[in-house]
Amino acid sequence: MLFIGGFLVIVVLTGIAIIRSKKPINLIFTEAKYEVLYNFEGARSMWQDIVMKKYNNIEVSSKSGRIAVISGGTRGIGLEVIKLLLKHDITVILGCRNTMQGEALLTVFRESGITTGKLDVYNLDISVMDSVKKFAVLVKEKYPKIHYLINNAGIMFGPYVETRDGFESQLATNYLGHFLLSHLLFSHLKSGGGKDVKSRIVNVSSCAHNVLGEFTVEDISERKHYIAGHAYAQSKLAQILFTKYLDQYCKNEKMNVQVHAVHPGIVNTDLFNGTTLKSLAPWAPSLFFKTPEKGAVSVVYACLSEDLEEKGGTYIVNCQIFPASKITDSLQLQKNLFDFTKGLLSIEDFGVYK
Ligand SMILES: NC(=O)c1ccc[n+]([C@@H]2O[C@H](COP(=O)([O-])OP(=O)(O)OC[C@H]3O[C@@H](n4cnc5c(N)ncnc54)[C@H](OP(=O)(O)O)[C@@H]3O)[C@@H](O)[C@H]2O)c1
Ligand SMILES: *[C@@H]1O[C@H](CO)[C@@H](O)[C@H](O)[C@H]1NC(C)=O
Ligand SMILES: *[C@@H]1O[C@H](CO)[C@@H](O)[C@H](O)[C@H]1NC(C)=O
Repeated sequence: MLFIGGFLVIVVLTGIAIIRSKKPINLIFTEAKYEVLYNFEGARSMWQDIVMKKYNNIEVSSKSGRIAVISGGTRGIGLEVIKLLLKHDITVILGCRNTMQGEALLTVFRESGITTGKLDVYNLDISVMDSVKKFAVLVKEKYPKIHYLINNAGIMFGPYVETRDGFESQLATNYLGHFLLSHLLFSHLKSGGGKDVKSRIVNVSSCAHNVLGEFTVEDISERKHYIAGHAYAQSKLAQILFTKYLDQYCKNEKMNVQVHAVHPGIVNTDLFNGTTLKSLAPWAPSLFFKTPEKGAVSVVYACLSEDLEEKGGTYIVNCQIFPASKITDSLQLQKNLFDFTKGLLSIEDFGVYK
């Protein structure tokens, strides 16, 4: 009964989305396909969040003296991640677009009773490569070692927009900017890692990567045929492919850095502004989705948990290692994407720069 009801809701939502769009028929068809796939994937993931609820906790000792860098944390999941890191006495470097908003957070945190940790805020627009470079220079000047890099900032759907560098905006924000940031901070992450306790790069990815049945590396700029749902899924799949590739690279080169990708769950944040679901049933997310506080738990787990030592290259869901989609296992695809991305960003040697 519940499943039939759920199915009908999905069909109706999809129908309404089609009628509202006024677009060419083949585009409508493809967009409808993604709308259905997202609704199924979302429902599956929400179910998983319920079943795996009991695993969602982190019990680790204080990490005094450790340094974390996070992109985009003035709201949503990132904000709750920062809170948890401060509670573990970590120094958090926040890169965000509105530094005043970032700095104001500390007052709020202190007033809420979090007395430990430090917060240092810098300007960063992760979708603009020049901004990423400036941010990295400032951070590296002040901090000789970094222990955690959390690639969190993200956008979902929206119309086709090209960034200043000429990249599609979801790709630039969710993937390319973070690729560049990881490259630029890599030397300091290496310095932060030790033999027993490695430093970590944590990519906030998404179950949305599952909606893609295939992936063509050269297609990631999406100039020819932009479909918002396709572009988001691609950017999130690219993160996982890169996570696996870079982790293997670190292992081969015996570098003390490990890399994880995380799906935080289906979390009630502004990321859903503008989606069909939120415009039709604005009450639904607060009823059925995880709170940002709960969404942050898996991300912080991926950063701090001792259980994950030496278990890099993995995809984490509800604080458990979980299989990502099959495509992400292709070594060839991982390498092709890595080389292609280096080319796009004019990076000669990953982690090495002048
Ligand atoms: N919510 C979910 O169900 C869900 C599920 C799977 C994965 N995720 C992933 O989780 C991450 C966090 O999402 P969220 O749900 O917390 O979304 P959110 O509430 O919309 O927060 C997104 C954050 O990213 C920042 N951001 C966006 N574009 C940026 C840019 N160009 N430069 C710097 N910062 C930028 C935003 O900063 P501003 O305040 O400056 O806009 C904001 O702090 C994303 O990577 C998302 O893909 C979320
Ligand atoms: C994922 O991690 C790698 C480092 O492992 C980073 O270079 C890449 O850009 C990350 N993807 C994102 C955007 O999270
Ligand atoms: C998302 O929508 C909420 C509620 O309508 C609004 O308060 C918030 O400012 C919006 N956020 C963004 C980033 O558009």
